[in-house]
Amino acid sequence: MEFITYEQDGFVGVITINRPKALNALNSQVLDELNETLDSINLDNTRALILTGAGDKSFVAGADIGEMSTLTKAEGEAFGKKGNDVFRKLETFPIPVIAAVNGFALGGGCEISMSCDIRICSENAIFGQPEVGLGITPGFGGTQRLARLVGAGMAKQMIYTARNIKADEAYRIGLVNAVYPADELMEQARKMAAGIAANAPIAVRNCKKAINDGLQVDMDQAIVIEEKLFGDCFETEDQKAGMSNFLEKDKEKKLKVVPFQNK
Ligand code: CAA
Repeated sequence: MEFITYEQDGFVGVITINRPKALNALNSQVLDELNETLDSINLDNTRALILTGAGDKSFVAGADIGEMSTLTKAEGEAFGKKGNDVFRKLETFPIPVIAAVNGFALGGGCEISMSCDIRICSENAIFGQPEVGLGITPGFGGTQRLARLVGAGMAKQMIYTARNIKADEAYRIGLVNAVYPADELMEQARKMAAGIAANAPIAVRNCKKAINDGLQVDMDQAIVIEEKLFGDCFETEDQKAGMSNFLEKDKEKKLKVVPFQNK
């Protein structure tokens, strides 16, 4: 792979978009490689992912403007679909994904971070949807996910004005969960991912599915989704071990990772 690196660190996988000369902008090749990387992850030994960008200046500076500049209407739609398909794969990936946003997260960069479960960023991070300044709409999910994350009013303001916001404002509006000095960002991301990986993996996956699927339907259907996924947990070794450790008051074991069990 030319533009994506993948590193396995225990139960945590780290995906780095590595095209620093173009501030990690997403061209078709980057999207294809990201797609392939996700397909190749071994879910039997990976419990959380971190997504970040190479270098200390940019997470992802958007979709590749050079590549988009000559697209026809049909090609534009196809390019949007290509990005959306990969981002949706990330969003529905069975395990949690943390975006460690280390600098510019503009256009497709903001959009890919929003396809992750959790966003944390460095103090120098800049978020924005500058597309209308380029004569296009956000095309990799920005018109949909930003409104769901920060509310329609704030999303419309950001998208219509194309104004970028700094890390502290992204934190204030709830776009990111936490802001760290740049040199602490990856350490914090790894710490969070390790914390997730220390919990019962099937339960964590079921939580992701329950939250994601439940948000797509009304509350009556949503609680049924929860009930089924809650019930499924009772077929796992993790539930039996986790609860008996608690009941046996084995403080040592109570907080320990229970072994991974495939369904
Ligand atoms: N596409 C292609 N190349 C890009 C790029 C992008 N989105 N962003 C940066 N680059 C390239 C630049 O062309 C430049 O390449 P050269 O050295 O070959 O000239 C290199 O990265 C470094 O960029 P700058 O010299 O511009 O760096 P800077 O520090 O002066 O500015 C920046 C940084 C403010 C992020 C600026 O690069 C910028 O505004 N980039 C574009 C951001 C943008 O508009 N993103 C949205 C794209 S549209 C989109 O994403 C659509 C969608 O929803 C699908």
